[in-house]
Amino acid sequence: MEFESGNSQVLSKIATSDEHGENSPYFDGWKAYDNDPFHPIKNPHGVIQMGLAENQLSHDIIEEWIIKNPKASISTREGVHEFKNIALFQDYHGLPEFRNAVAKFMGKARGGRVSFDPARIVMGGGATGANEMLMFCLADPGDAFLVPSPYYPAFNRDLRWRTRVQLIPVTCQSSNNFRITEEALEEAYQKARKVNIKVKGLILANPSNPLGTTLDRPTLISLVNFINEKKIHLVCDEIYAATVFRGPSFISISEIIEEVECDRNLIHIVYSLSKDMGLPGFRVGIMYSYNDTVVSCSRKMSSFGLVSSQTQHLLASMLSDDEFTDKFMLENARRLAKRHEMFTKGLEEMGIKCLESNAGLFCWMDLRHLLKENTFEGEMGLWRVIISDVKLNVSPGSSFYCHEPGWFRVCFANMDAETVQVALRRILMFVVKGKEVDMKSKKSWQKNLRLRLSFSSRIYDETLASSPHSPIPQSC
Ligand SMILES: Cc1ncc(COP(=O)(O)O)c(C=O)c1O
Repeated sequence: MEFESGNSQVLSKIATSDEHGENSPYFDGWKAYDNDPFHPIKNPHGVIQMGLAENQLSHDIIEEWIIKNPKASISTREGVHEFKNIALFQDYHGLPEFRNAVAKFMGKARGGRVSFDPARIVMGGGATGANEMLMFCLADPGDAFLVPSPYYPAFNRDLRWRTRVQLIPVTCQSSNNFRITEEALEEAYQKARKVNIKVKGLILANPSNPLGTTLDRPTLISLVNFINEKKIHLVCDEIYAATVFRGPSFISISEIIEEVECDRNLIHIVYSLSKDMGLPGFRVGIMYSYNDTVVSCSRKMSSFGLVSSQTQHLLASMLSDDEFTDKFMLENARRLAKRHEMFTKGLEEMGIKCLESNAGLFCWMDLRHLLKENTFEGEMGLWRVIISDVKLNVSPGSSFYCHEPGWFRVCFANMDAETVQVALRRILMFVVKGKEVDMKSKKSWQKNLRLRLSFSSRIYDETLASSPHSPIPQSC
């Protein structure tokens, strides 16, 4: 477009910057899926979407509740008498019954070991909106937040793009299963200080996206001690709090601050119903702060990203139904555990290991042994083969700012079991083909990957599965 070059003069820096991340090469995977989406009958040789951290395993339980509770919706004969009240409601404090129900649910999602004050619940447009809102409250343009890497890539968009806050990675290594060490924290902090960058806080996702692991008590205590000593903020994105399907159980930062002495004004939690309830389209984000000024400021800011009153009304009923929430959390965790085991066992049988994990909607898959060369170019090469030949859209570790090439995040809960089986069969053929090449050439088989793997998913019998086709998502 001719006008594009002139845009930098007439539009804002935010509008013309690339910080959103949509133009990154990683979107090639999404485009490949979008152009050729897998469908068991209509397009059995298409690309399977394994780059989307979505929970589609438990919607039937929610649907059943909705059918049994028509009064909870203003769009039914039984609930329409509330229509006018709800349609007019726009107070940025939110419906009191919604805040009460969310606070209760947040406590349950953390094993009932902590409770949350409804007065500190602030709404945001998903965790996306809540995270950005917090950055606006805690940091000025140019200030920085430390973030342990590998980290959720959209943190760049959510935390940096419009706020102009910087992110400084804290390097975590595979040699200790990507634990966050005090040394790594200190190193990142000092590096920033040396170049006069003001570090305002540390932000992390616990449970981790992309690792699928939960932080243990000693690590959490060391994080609190670190931020307390430096007098910087700690933001814990606990969006996967109830997406924990086996032990060790999840420990929230809210539990730790009951045990460790620290300045609570520095502690903030981000939550959402996008993962734990599988409702990303509802855009229910929560900012929970122990700092009164942050609560009050972010509440004013929340006008830019409120949860619709209709959604609040429905969820107020749903989340205050103890029988439902107990059943949902239990059954959802059971289904996730089953899916996780099916997928990781399948990979294991082919000699592919994943980082041991107990949470999340994905595995952190170790393909280092398949790299042509131990570099990020090598990783990108392998990734492109996986997309174009194996026809799976997985996400390379470099897109999560992992410091070691060869790791890939693979999502397993956004499809049905049959589609997972198709994906596993494709991976198996890929691995077997690779080994055949190795035997024949007696060279590293990876060298011939592109040439020799005339692999085509077309030759495999892929039936009976279904996979949703979604546009490029807002969060992954
Ligand atoms: C760690 C993390 N934070 C935030 C988000 C965004 O969530 P939401 O859909 O609630 O905006 C995601 C989504 O993948 C995530 O993984």
